[in-house]
Amino acid sequence: MSSSVKRIGVLTGGGDAPGLNAVIRAVVKTATRVYGWEVVGIEDGFEGLLGETRTLPLDANAVRGLLPRGGTILGTVNRGHFTTSIVNDQIVKNEPAFQEAVRNIERLGLDALVVIGGEGSQTIAYAMSKMNVPVVGVPKTIDNDLTGTDLTFGFDTALDIATEAIDRLHTTAESHDRVLFVEVMGRHAGWIALQSGVAGGADVILIPEIPFYAEKAAAKVLEREGQGRAFSIIVVAEGAKPAGGKEVYQDAGGSDRAPRLGGIAEQVADEIARITDKDCRVVVLGHLQRGGTPTAFDRMLASCYGSAAVRAIANGKFANMVAWSCNNLIIVPLEECVKTIKSVPPDHYLIGVARDLGISFAGQED
Ligand code: F6P
Repeated sequence: MSSSVKRIGVLTGGGDAPGLNAVIRAVVKTATRVYGWEVVGIEDGFEGLLGETRTLPLDANAVRGLLPRGGTILGTVNRGHFTTSIVNDQIVKNEPAFQEAVRNIERLGLDALVVIGGEGSQTIAYAMSKMNVPVVGVPKTIDNDLTGTDLTFGFDTALDIATEAIDRLHTTAESHDRVLFVEVMGRHAGWIALQSGVAGGADVILIPEIPFYAEKAAAKVLEREGQGRAFSIIVVAEGAKPAGGKEVYQDAGGSDRAPRLGGIAEQVADEIARITDKDCRVVVLGHLQRGGTPTAFDRMLASCYGSAAVRAIANGKFANMVAWSCNNLIIVPLEECVKTIKSVPPDHYLIGVARDLGISFAGQED
């Protein structure tokens, strides 16, 4: 199988995440050093496969110094022309864009394509695999919400940044007897909020998986006040929602991108200020969580994924995503990875640990 491959493509899709360049580097190094293949970078995600196509030859020189560099040298695009959804187990997609991309993959002489991306990009990859494009996925996202893998690269870095922010906000909260709200990313999953909240010693964590009652969060703030601790830290996932209520969006999105979450922390802070009469301040971390150099762990994970993706191609294991499971590298059918997102199970051990430590989720059980 490996002998028929001579030239592969690699692209990065969706939001940027620390470690993208480290994956590209590992793909290029493994493909060129171990197998003697050529590697072609596709620019701006799948969009680079449309029209005249936008590509970049990638060799050892092109990837020198990339390991610690944030962002992606290939550029990336959210969804773009490649709208997809899975309805009743069937892929619904923008056919003309997919047909054009598949024709261009052939025209470029690519024997396989490595797709580095989150759930959206892997759904596109899955759709292309159904059109007989030999694809292998690499799981990226700071949200860690991709099914099929314990970990996506980028998450560890985002977690570190969020935790450091919480640490820094502690000093102001304590000095001024304030309630500090930290809104973190994560889309519809609470992994960043949960883990940074535990690591940063938050008092309340609000996640999408546990609908919250603002009165319960306020009660926690007042309980602490009664114990002589006049400040609190509340970590709010951008996708958190009140019991019986809805997520808060900044906009409705468009045909080429999903609606943008954001603003929930401001809403809860207003409510808690009203109930507690305390000085409540909000910090929205936003894209800081995705920027800059990856942690050592993310560099390691990204390198493993890049190498594993090329080896999967060499072994003809197409329509799969490389993944991390129980400290090991595995491959999982793309079909399994794109059915649902991986949210935090309400009985997850870390939720129990957090409650043991006195952290409230302000949910029904708190
Ligand atoms: O999926 C990664 C992520 O950073 C989410 O946490 C966030 O909701 C979204 O992307 C923001 O996307 P954009 O940068 O396109 O606004």
